[in-house]
Amino acid sequence: MDAPGPALLAVSDLHVGYPDNRPIVSSLAPASDGDWLIVAGDVAETTADLEWALRQLTGRFATVIWVPGNHELWTTRRDPVQLRGVARYEHLVSLCRSLGVLTPEDPYPVWPSPAGPVTVAPLFLLYDYSFRPDGAATREEALEIARNAGVICTDEYRLHPDPYASRHEWCHARVEATRARLAALNGAPVVLVNHWPLVREPTRVLRYPQFAQWCGTDLTADWHTAFSAAAVVYGHLHIPRTTHYDGVRFEEVSVGYPREWRRQQQRRPPRPPWLRQILPAPGAP
Ligand SMILES: [Fe+2]
Ligand SMILES: [Fe+2]
Repeated sequence: MDAPGPALLAVSDLHVGYPDNRPIVSSLAPASDGDWLIVAGDVAETTADLEWALRQLTGRFATVIWVPGNHELWTTRRDPVQLRGVARYEHLVSLCRSLGVLTPEDPYPVWPSPAGPVTVAPLFLLYDYSFRPDGAATREEALEIARNAGVICTDEYRLHPDPYASRHEWCHARVEATRARLAALNGAPVVLVNHWPLVREPTRVLRYPQFAQWCGTDLTADWHTAFSAAAVVYGHLHIPRTTHYDGVRFEEVSVGYPREWRRQQQRRPPRPPWLRQILPAPGAP
């Protein structure tokens, strides 16, 4: 039998600050020499841990593509790198560049599919509290409902938006700049990669619906159709699964925390394998 051709694979939410997740990173390996790996955010909370993980992966995969999750953007006391907000993000981008890892700040790479080239667009879009809970008409009301329910994302204390005045303003700036880059693809097929889901639907199954406001923005609700997405890759929810919206495949590719993936492995059927194949599309000839 022929060896499999190269594949575009994806994983996210490796959370290597948990010692039990580190062997998972060490186990991630390509099936073919030409495999690419998308790492869709929440690798780690310190720059040293991010470097530890990415350095291993670049040693094994032909190309590694990273987008930031909220955890990489946290400024914590445990990290000697005390940069905040945009300065922190830019520092992480330069770390990636020193390792040869592609980021949302690089030209979008093109996956050389036998069925025709597919652009891979790593995005960094953040969230703007527009996935509001029922009964909330404004951002302030949404936060108040979450507070009253005892559901507050740690981002409120650790993900600083500097020099923007707020995370939602940073989000809107990212959305505007990214929309222009995607429009310039003129409808060519693209795999969209973002830590947070581009549409709200996946957040409907969250155990705490108030948490959805930290999970994305309504501004990207039609991007999967408007920009001819071949597939959309995301994480953040720690609910690994494949769904379809408007006929487009969405892959939530997270590993998650040890207590979560252990529980998911015990289910029938168990959680998907760590690495998800994005292209060739599973089942495609
Ligand atoms: Fe995560
Ligand atoms: Fe996250």
